[in-house]
Amino acid sequence: MSRNKTPTVSLSGHQSMPMIGLGTGDFQSSGETVKTAVIEAIKVGYRHFDTASVYGTENALGEAIEEVLRLGLIGSRDELFITTKLWFTDCHSERVVPALQKSLGLLKLEYLDLYLIHLPVSSKSESIGIYPSKDNIEPLDVKGVWAAMEECKKLGLAKSIGVSNFPVKTLESLLSAATIPPCLNQVEMNPTCQQKELREYCKERGILITAYSPLGAPGTRWGNNRILDNEILIDIAKSHGKSVAQVALRWLYEQGVSFIAKSYNKERMKQNLEIFDWSLTEHDLEKISQIKQIRLNQENPLFEYVA
Ligand code: A2P
Repeated sequence: MSRNKTPTVSLSGHQSMPMIGLGTGDFQSSGETVKTAVIEAIKVGYRHFDTASVYGTENALGEAIEEVLRLGLIGSRDELFITTKLWFTDCHSERVVPALQKSLGLLKLEYLDLYLIHLPVSSKSESIGIYPSKDNIEPLDVKGVWAAMEECKKLGLAKSIGVSNFPVKTLESLLSAATIPPCLNQVEMNPTCQQKELREYCKERGILITAYSPLGAPGTRWGNNRILDNEILIDIAKSHGKSVAQVALRWLYEQGVSFIAKSYNKERMKQNLEIFDWSLTEHDLEKISQIKQIRLNQENPLFEYVA
């Protein structure tokens, strides 16, 4: 499928974001694997890529972008939509611009399309992993950190700014402090985590939702097969001659939500783009709304803070 067939959504009224992004949230694969996957993804039509400083994949994504430009697979960097995220060790006002400059250095880019605050908290110490202890977590200085995010946009380092994992409560403080409101909130969303209340709140305020773990992150330390093995989704998939993954992704699309699907497998990458020429029925939607809701990653101490 060509890029032109992937619908886009308008961000901040001036930017066009493809509704499907390829995720690189991967703590296992080598840089070479990530680079190869991104190049393959561009060949099959992806133009939107999502990374984060904590993933350690910014460098590989940057190398892939250099390579596709060198090979002429795309005409210019402007054809891509690139997102990265500020890790919570850098969620202190004076560290935000330097953290973005470091990410841009690894990505080998002049600007980002979208910069997100990764989590609605800060950390006390600089070097902690993705599963920090409770003692290391402290409240986010919403006003100071968001002012620094606005500075990133004013400096032209990020075209749009937003947040990730923000619950309603933190969004409320942010909106009362912001001069430039966040354009987007990237959160866990899938048929087993439908985020109804948060979606309603964001919709009323013009904040887009992007779903991460749209398939429940099977094969990762924090994910599981609950979506791919769900009986309701399996039945719906059979009735349409589609895969369960396609049903889960189509459901997100029909909710008006963009999503970051991660696959490094060329066939599955293609399959995940093929969700636009068919639709779910009212009956399917009703059945999906009855699926039991269970969050991922509940053992992580960060869980109590995130949307
Ligand atoms: P793979 O890279 O081998 O394709 P999520 O997007 O929810 O984080 O889930 C990512 C995981 O889902 C990856 O392990 C990926 O494996 C797998 N995956 C992605 N697309 C599909 C698909 N169409 N069918 C089955 N598994 C998929």
